[in-house]
Amino acid sequence: MAGIDTIRESWATRAGFILAAVGSAVGLGNIWRFPFQVGQEGGAAFLLMYLFFILLIGLPAMLVEFTVGRRTNLNAVGALRKIGGRTWQYVGGLFIMIGFIILSYYSVIGGWVLRYFTGSLTGGYTADSEAYFVEIATGFDTLLFHAIFMALTVGIVALGIKQGIELAVKLMVPSIIAIMVGLAIYAVTLPGGAEGYTYYLSPDFDVLASEWRSIVPAAAGQAFFTLSLGMGVMITYASYLSKDRNLAEDSGVIIGFDTGIAILTGLIVFPILFAAGLGAAEPGPGAIFIALAGAFSEIQYGLVLGVLFFGMFSIAALSSAISLLEVVVSYVVDEYGMNRPVATSIIGGGIFLLGVPVALVSDGGNPIVIDLYDILAAEILLVTGGILVMVLVAWFHADKALDELSKGIGSVGILGSVWIWLVRVPVILVLLISLALAFLGYYEFLSDEFIPFVRG
Ligand code: PHE
Repeated sequence: MAGIDTIRESWATRAGFILAAVGSAVGLGNIWRFPFQVGQEGGAAFLLMYLFFILLIGLPAMLVEFTVGRRTNLNAVGALRKIGGRTWQYVGGLFIMIGFIILSYYSVIGGWVLRYFTGSLTGGYTADSEAYFVEIATGFDTLLFHAIFMALTVGIVALGIKQGIELAVKLMVPSIIAIMVGLAIYAVTLPGGAEGYTYYLSPDFDVLASEWRSIVPAAAGQAFFTLSLGMGVMITYASYLSKDRNLAEDSGVIIGFDTGIAILTGLIVFPILFAAGLGAAEPGPGAIFIALAGAFSEIQYGLVLGVLFFGMFSIAALSSAISLLEVVVSYVVDEYGMNRPVATSIIGGGIFLLGVPVALVSDGGNPIVIDLYDILAAEILLVTGGILVMVLVAWFHADKALDELSKGIGSVGILGSVWIWLVRVPVILVLLISLALAFLGYYEFLSDEFIPFVRG
């Protein structure tokens, strides 16, 4: 552990930290996973549950991770060990494993985004946006773009991320918002899009009542995934933070950005999908790509917009991928003193290999290994990681957490106890229920879809 003092930096500015955290949060989770989940889980009913989870669980959970990181100034494994003792470092080990799994398919989808970026340059998807998706979703080219995306991620993390991230997200966040607002306005003008708004925005409570067993774990998983919670990213990023930051305020800003961008994505995707007669659920993980590529093919200067949009989307995906890799790398560098570029390359190579089946296996055009990894990671592993950290902090170290939270705020007063008790009982309880449902759902996925597929 020698040399930690010299390695440890802090964020140069308040904006640096917020932007890096926003950069981690905003990514495929908002622009790809969110509309895909909304489509799969019944539209507005899911949206409602998701917003409920963001507020009830996302905000308190982010505060928990922030206090752990800033208190210890350590990587995620070291931080948990320092707070909870030796046994808790295994929870840190769980984080490392989650990082491996998520980044392995994240990078494949990041490769799709790069592919759509080049497709905008060449006009490759204009002929048939549905066929284009099927063509690029799996296969050897997919593997190639997975390798490119992974190499970019490794390159940035190997160089040390502060400058890279700070710069990238300063550009990314404002441009993404500008382009997306423009696209949302375009979507309003589409004939036949109205049904899309209804589907997305007016909750059908019958759907909620009949489908809650899958909506609840999906919404919880999406909340953790999109806010980068449950695997130590926010612990790691807050470990570079100085004591004068108001953690509550920062959480609010980060969550506000992340949720705003997700909601905006839905306002673009659903009217476009319904206007094109595709409906919401059919295209699954390809929905967003098919909808947007279809739109860019039709509107004036659409391909220019496509270049901008998929360019920004690539940066958004990269700035999240970096944070996933950084959790693993900071652990190996901190704890074993391994050279950063070497560690980054070896770990990146391992993650690439784990992503090979994701890129190559196709169930009639459907990249089914994504489901295998993604449901496990988001609904089961992230939620488990989140529950464990919350148990540790809220039940065993509430005094330290409150002390840490009050730095940069002054007195937290009654709200501090509200936070701790909220986490102690209702949050953990709801997440345990969600986790149980997630296990059932995953078992069903395995027995009804995956195993029959493997058997042919
Ligand atoms: N939050 C990122 C996104 O929405 C994904 C992510 C998950 C990043 C977990 C880090 C940790 O794309």
